[in-house]
Amino acid sequence: MELFLLTMLLLHFVGLSALLGVGVAQLRQRDARLLRIMFPAAIVQLLTGVGLVFGNMRLGNGVNDDKIMFKMGIAVLVLLLTGYLAFKAKKSETGADVPADGMPVVFGITLIAVLANTAIAVYWN
Ligand code: HEM
Repeated sequence: MELFLLTMLLLHFVGLSALLGVGVAQLRQRDARLLRIMFPAAIVQLLTGVGLVFGNMRLGNGVNDDKIMFKMGIAVLVLLLTGYLAFKAKKSETGADVPADGMPVVFGITLIAVLANTAIAVYWN
């Protein structure tokens, strides 16, 4: 169970770096190509988050229910927003991805939500 928990934490960091790293790279990108990577990363965050809660409970480590509920809510929001961005982007004739309507706003909220969940994870004990 210990190994499972550590593996979940490792994958949780992989998901976080994919969300934040791709998000920052997308700031410099005109088309929406990179946004497609953020959706699977959001799925990884949710699944590994649930895995972390499960593993901690099995090991008898307490989990903070309020914190987990907040993180879960924000993670679902991130999943919906990245899903919107990934599935609404269209391929143009040149092969570039044309962004979805309102992309800068939706993308901005997504980045803020990811940062908020990171801050909650770190500061709220
Ligand atoms: C965008 C989504 C998420 C981000 C950016 C995020 C970020 C993080 C980070 C940076 C850590 C390491 C903090 C530390 O060990 O001090 C962490 C740990 C953890 N996360 Fe997440 N997380 C997300 C979603 C979730 C979800 C949905 C859950 C639960 C369903 C969850 C549950 C946990 C748990 C149990 C830990 C272990 C340490 C602790 O209790 O804080 N996370 N998360």
